[in-house]
Amino acid sequence: MEKAFSQQNRKYIGSKAALLDFIVQAVEDMVGSELSACSFLDLFAGTGVVAGAFVGKARQVLACDLLYSNYVTNRAFLCTTPKNANLQQIELLLERLNSLEGEGGYLAESYGNTYFTWENAERIGAVRDEIESWRQKGLITPQEYYILLTSLLYAADKVANTCGQYDAYLKNLGHPPYSPGGVHLVDETVYSRLQLRPLKITARGDCQVYCQDANTLVEEVDADIIYLDPPYNSRQYCDNYHVLENVARWEKPPLAGKTRKFDRSGLRSRYSKKREAAVALAELVAKARCRYLFLSYNCEGIISDCELMEILESRGQVQIREQPYPVFGNGAGRSRRRQLLERLFICEVSS
Ligand SMILES: C[S@@+](CC[C@H](N)C(=O)[O-])C[C@H]1O[C@@H](n2cnc3c(N)ncnc32)[C@H](O)[C@@H]1O
Repeated sequence: MEKAFSQQNRKYIGSKAALLDFIVQAVEDMVGSELSACSFLDLFAGTGVVAGAFVGKARQVLACDLLYSNYVTNRAFLCTTPKNANLQQIELLLERLNSLEGEGGYLAESYGNTYFTWENAERIGAVRDEIESWRQKGLITPQEYYILLTSLLYAADKVANTCGQYDAYLKNLGHPPYSPGGVHLVDETVYSRLQLRPLKITARGDCQVYCQDANTLVEEVDADIIYLDPPYNSRQYCDNYHVLENVARWEKPPLAGKTRKFDRSGLRSRYSKKREAAVALAELVAKARCRYLFLSYNCEGIISDCELMEILESRGQVQIREQPYPVFGNGAGRSRRRQLLERLFICEVSS
């Protein structure tokens, strides 16, 4: 079987995979040797790489995200132990899933010849049905369910006809990868066969994963350190990742429009609304029960620096660390590299 999927092995807008050393160093400098006795809560976890970086460093790690697809992948990468999943059996099950072909069905009719080739869409649908039926028959444990589903989400992402996010699919599916004149038309990976792989699970700690609005969860749990990485622009994550979210949920809702989206009311984030983002952050910071707040917010965000400082200073002294950071286009695609300034706001909570 091919190389395993690691947690960082997906394109995700705003992922801090390339900034982990910067974030870990800042936390270690601030908290010092007490870190091993601290709990660490990653409230906008996304891919979960930041939470994952603190497993083994902090006493306990908690991760939360609004999207169910992220809950699934975070459960798989952060909560697997030899007690709740048999990884040898998983390899055998992955082989069985990889041999499925599928025939038509919801996934192919929804996304075949747009986000995926028709054949891969048929396979994704067949694999998803099979995983669900194994769960219903009690043939796999709940943790094994999250692992298999995560492998499917990562595999689907690898063969998707997108530039890393699903707000729209790319044109030219069906054409060869290059035109006779050498113009790049479609990524060759889009035509490769869907291939589920085992997961590279490194974090085996005492982790708790939640699928909730951060502003609600913050009222329910406390932690020594709270890390905040909210969306910082008006592109909703539920729009950018609706296809993976739909595969994860598997409720087979009707889809609308050219970009084939399901009704995402309830998944829209206040942090991606210009008028509401600062209010949402202020409410969250006011409610946070912690000793340290770390906030990642880049220099092109919709909340102004002035507002950020005012919100954080209401809880204690604030310092800022900065790191230049190259991104591709809007952060997910393959367009030109740009240099941004990533900032980490650090508040030692005193009130
Ligand atoms: C900038 S990304 C986080 C990236 C993450 N740190 C990583 O390295 O992958 C912001 C995340 O916040 C999530 N999100 C948006 N609004 C939220 C809310 N109100 N509560 C919880 N999560 C939310 C999005 O689904 C998205 O995954």
